[in-house]
Amino acid sequence: MTATLTLALSKGRIFDETLPLLRAAGIEVLEDPETSRKLILPTNQAQLRVVLVRASDVPTYVQYGGADLGVTGLDTLIEHGGDWAGSGTGLYQPLDLKIAKCRMSVAVRADFDYVGKVKQGARLKVATKYTTIARDFFASKGVHVDMVKLYGSMELAPLTGLADAIVDLVSTGNTLKANHLVEVERIMDISSRLVVNQASLKMKQAQIRPIIDAFAKALA
Ligand code: PRP
Repeated sequence: MTATLTLALSKGRIFDETLPLLRAAGIEVLEDPETSRKLILPTNQAQLRVVLVRASDVPTYVQYGGADLGVTGLDTLIEHGGDWAGSGTGLYQPLDLKIAKCRMSVAVRADFDYVGKVKQGARLKVATKYTTIARDFFASKGVHVDMVKLYGSMELAPLTGLADAIVDLVSTGNTLKANHLVEVERIMDISSRLVVNQASLKMKQAQIRPIIDAFAKALA
């Protein structure tokens, strides 16, 4: 008997950009998450199903076995508590899927003298959803920060006086521009990773390996 395999994805860019990789592995998702309200989507392979979870919940689902595999951004993975290799979380991270590419950056109001403040050793107020990445980055620069945790619309923080700077994802740069903010540091490049539950990899090796191999071949 073949065990059921569960793949965790989040709606939007990650779902859309994972589809071509799934196709390369011969997998078709049989419902469109934009029109269906279902959270469990069947595929053309009876033993494989897709579950739709919030982007920030993908590592949790995979770590605790609610899903065998998942696709998640490096940003989410680091904030979840994994390091670059995802170690220490029971997550095996075999592939950089090179999708949903963007960067993690520091941005400030155009009239804020970021370089000057850093040079003076001033304490910076930083608003972000990505507190682990931001804390590590500023610590590595020796800059003291007061962190303000936000869950969205970070761009508002420097405009309202809540913070001097934000740490946020930048893709086209249009959101920063529209809010009169400028990117002053690029912390890291971000892309989505395939993550696999380590116990699943052992128990369901015969089902999981071909998927990893097909993804790897499609990326080559
Ligand atoms: C991200 C990020 C910025 C925007 C940047 O938000 O937080 O707001 O994208 O993209 P741009 O440089 O192309 O303008 P996202 O849409 O992922 O939603 P979020 O606010 O829930 O993170």
